[in-house]
Amino acid sequence: MHKKYYLFSFLVLIVLISIGCREVTAEMSEPIVFEPTPATSEKLSEGARPVIEVKIVGNSSAGEEWFTSQGCNACHSTGNDKLVGPGQLGIYERAATRSEYSSPEDYIESSIRYPAEYIVEGYTNLMPTTWEDAEKQEIADIIEYLKTLK
Ligand code: HEC
Repeated sequence: MHKKYYLFSFLVLIVLISIGCREVTAEMSEPIVFEPTPATSEKLSEGARPVIEVKIVGNSSAGEEWFTSQGCNACHSTGNDKLVGPGQLGIYERAATRSEYSSPEDYIESSIRYPAEYIVEGYTNLMPTTWEDAEKQEIADIIEYLKTLK
């Protein structure tokens, strides 16, 4: 009886000590590692190009101003009259018939930037190459204006 009691208290002691000595470790959350998806890493290696595309919208009154400020009107009437160059009346519809070009816009832009590329029948290559580097916005505006001449 006596022996059993000692043995029992000894066991209780061991249990208490082992509970007391148990190391309590705080749960650590996993570190967050950024792993780019295959698509992202492909884009990054290509040299991250902008995703937003800017759509240029032409403004016809800005185009009308450009037409006079640039002196287009010195050679082009806005009607049917021939000056140095053809009158611009109906130019947008006419541009659509230039089948070498993908669109009327493409023809008008090329006519302004590279006038020598397509010489209108009955005219000579007298249009200057002043506007080869015209702004995209200026081209969009003049196209919008020329569309109104019908
Ligand atoms: C010095 C005179 C001159 C000036 C200035 C001039 N052009 Fe012309 N342009 C011409 C001549 C000549 C042609 C016809 C020959 C050719 O196709 O290049 C022509 C052709 C064009 C055509 C094609 C017309 C068609 O019926 O297919 C367009 C469009 C045009 N010009 C726009 C412009 C605009 C816009 C400006 C001003 C930014 C301008 N031009 C300034 C002389 C001029």
